[in-house]
Amino acid sequence: MGQSVLTAAFTRRDGALYCEDVSAEVIAREAGTPVFVYSSAVIRDRYSRLTAALAGVKHRVHYAMKANGNRAILSLLRELGSGVDVVSGGELHRAQRAGFKGHDIIFGGVGKTIRELREGLKAGVKLINVESEAELLMLEAVARELGVVAQVGLRINPDVTVENSHAYIATGSRGHKFGIPHDEALALVKIARGLEHIELIGLDMHVGSQLATLEPYRAGLDRLMELAGRIAAMGTKIRYVDVGGGLPVRYDDGDPEPDLDAFAAVIAPVLKKLNAELIVEPGRFFSAASGVLLARVLYRKRSGGKDYVIADAGMTELLRPSHYDAYHLIESATPSGERAVVDVVGPVCESGDFLAQDREMDSVEPGDLLVVHTAGAYGYVMSSNYNARPKAAEVMVDGAKFAVVTARETYDDLVRLEQAHPDWRDA
Ligand code: LLP
Repeated sequence: MGQSVLTAAFTRRDGALYCEDVSAEVIAREAGTPVFVYSSAVIRDRYSRLTAALAGVKHRVHYAMKANGNRAILSLLRELGSGVDVVSGGELHRAQRAGFKGHDIIFGGVGKTIRELREGLKAGVKLINVESEAELLMLEAVARELGVVAQVGLRINPDVTVENSHAYIATGSRGHKFGIPHDEALALVKIARGLEHIELIGLDMHVGSQLATLEPYRAGLDRLMELAGRIAAMGTKIRYVDVGGGLPVRYDDGDPEPDLDAFAAVIAPVLKKLNAELIVEPGRFFSAASGVLLARVLYRKRSGGKDYVIADAGMTELLRPSHYDAYHLIESATPSGERAVVDVVGPVCESGDFLAQDREMDSVEPGDLLVVHTAGAYGYVMSSNYNARPKAAEVMVDGAKFAVVTARETYDDLVRLEQAHPDWRDA
């Protein structure tokens, strides 16, 4: 059971789990637990498969670094040729430190501050995806102050129905906070065309994450195509069409792997008709299956007829099970062959602190190492210091080598920004 979630990069040798050619137990011993472990081979493989599928259309991949902004992953993707999609000044900073230049960067997000707009313009980003009239006018003012012309995409909410695993990750339906309602877009285009420091060159959508079918892409693109036609009739050429992220990954046996050729077949004809360059912004697709979370079993206990496995990782490291009711396959790094039905919980003082509930899985004992699969996306980036828990370490594997790419936080890190003696000021 569950084996198909394992990929060529996560295999078993004499029963023990390996990431590429490095044993999970060795990493856990050397780097401690909890620790996120990423396979560089998975990222390389996914990048080359996606770009091969899209080869027939002029395109650029802009990795959505919100999924995993680890510098080693960013650098790897940059070396492969990827650009990046950022949604905050902090992500822009991280991207620049990882070597991305302005033309490699797309700046999105529904609530960019003046400071962030300024930072984006100063960095010379390729596209700022604007989500409202108010933001457009703010961007005009900031660009005027800097004496530059902002290269702008409009993020359209195409109002499409999206089937995915959780309401929190659907974004492209009527009434969501994201984007410009498609039936209000032309009015905004007219305004944009009248602004001296705005050059409208792109249309953008992101209809949701972990999309179960290609239908939302098809429906959303139809809307963008119609809009681009009308914009062209007004005399403005749309050069970039950004279809967002959303490619799904396999968390459980039944989950489909995305059909990249079918994805390309939906998109390419539209882009060719528009004679525009395609931008894709997958996040999860690259990083999710590249990563596992390793955690040590601390205790087992029975309570109220339930069997608990208490691990040294929980919602503070991987929030997805608790927040989205998300499934992650959990195995023992060295299974004994015995099975048990358990709740896998963390040490945090919350009943919602779990990694799995009522799960049939390998029976484990204190000291055993747990492998939580498909944890490379929206894992570390969503982790917190709740209960004053230092953030986990991150390790990158490449063949038979591994490196700690983010050190585990220390207790001192937890209090670094606090003032022992407040500097009181008169109000
Ligand atoms: N582009 C935009 C504008 C986005 O908002 C997102 C994700 C992406 C691209 C990348 O989507 P992906 O390819 O990763 O599906 N924390 C949630 C997922 C939230 C996604 C937010 N936006 C989770 O753990 O499932």
